[in-house]
Amino acid sequence: MRTLNVNTPSHSYPIFIGEHLLDNAADLLQPYLSKQAAIITNETIAPLYLDKLSANLNHAGIRNFSIILPDGEQYKDWQTLNLIFDGLMQNRAERKTTLIALGGGVIGDMVGFAAATYQRGAPFIQIPTTLLSQVDSSVGGKTAINHPLGKNMIGAFYQPQAVLADLNTLSTLPARELSAGLAEVIKYGALGDEHFLEWLEKNIHLLVAKDSPTLIEAVYHCCHMKAEIVSQDETEQGIRAWLNLGHTFGHAIEAEQGYGNWLHGEAVAAGMILACRLSEELGCINAQDTQKIRNLLDAAHLPVEPPCFDFERWIEHMKHDKKVSSGIMRFIGLDKLGKANITEITDMEILRRTLQPYLP
Ligand code: NAD
Ligand code: GLY
Repeated sequence: MRTLNVNTPSHSYPIFIGEHLLDNAADLLQPYLSKQAAIITNETIAPLYLDKLSANLNHAGIRNFSIILPDGEQYKDWQTLNLIFDGLMQNRAERKTTLIALGGGVIGDMVGFAAATYQRGAPFIQIPTTLLSQVDSSVGGKTAINHPLGKNMIGAFYQPQAVLADLNTLSTLPARELSAGLAEVIKYGALGDEHFLEWLEKNIHLLVAKDSPTLIEAVYHCCHMKAEIVSQDETEQGIRAWLNLGHTFGHAIEAEQGYGNWLHGEAVAAGMILACRLSEELGCINAQDTQKIRNLLDAAHLPVEPPCFDFERWIEHMKHDKKVSSGIMRFIGLDKLGKANITEITDMEILRRTLQPYLP
């Protein structure tokens, strides 16, 4: 097992990364758990991992009950969030009850937001079960639900007590979901680490094949990068925004296509190519750089082109982005491979040229 620490002004906590960790969850998490826990998961993950976790906690004397939500990005909304509060109230959960998010990024983001607001703040633990949530969403304390007009628009910064990433849970993850996680892995190389990009070029086929040691290396490296960035900038006043490489375009794709139709990671993949094209337009990188990222995304079986829709729709969606400041759109681009930047765009023609091949 490998352990990392995230140190933010609001809270410091460990990330445990390894195999068979669910079998020892209560032991590992004991210092971070209260006497009662609510395990919140969804109808896909419950039959796979809920009993194991619940029995493990019972064995350690931690009373627990479960709340099982419907599965899907389309349920990351107010109504489903309220089902968490219903379950907590019905089971008389107290303010100290630990909320455990057992699942991917959708469960993690919703449970985190529920924890941030239940009785004005309950402790929570992340047990991410998708590659995407292990390398990104479970770390750093961004919690949210979607609004029909914009992705992750309602939420809070709220750090977990601990993160436990058991790589064995990836054995049941469908290939398409694994690929979606690889989009975020490739993102880390592109935004901040050229050597990691080279490592990925050599190892991407092993990651696609779910080779355990290679996956552990990738999860550890990404969590390490994210922990460093979040420790410096917990609430995204500056460099944390780099983690949004590809996301402004990606969120527009998700909203336009209807949440859940394009997976988040797939939208980020196509969005990263658009961010590269924007950086080309701005004279920062060249077509070969973009091609390198495209090759990696291709090897991970990810889409590298967005769906076709009107320019005005792109702008409408992207104007809702959380990076918009004083009405000005801000994009994460690349100065070079392995170095992200934040650019304000006021000239819409630059965006039109970036999107031109994909406009009707
Ligand atoms: P997800 O949570 O929808 O999970 C993907 C699918 O895999 C679901 O159907 C889920 O039930 C299933 N699943 C999960 N674990 C499984 C397992 N071990 N075996 C079999 N099936 C399993 O999607 P995701 O890609 O994990 O997360 C995407 C979400 O994360 C988006 O809502 C995105 O906005 C959010 N996100 C948040 C942050 C953050 O910093 N908070 C960062 C990146 C993404
Ligand atoms: N995934 C973006 C962030 O955590 O800041």
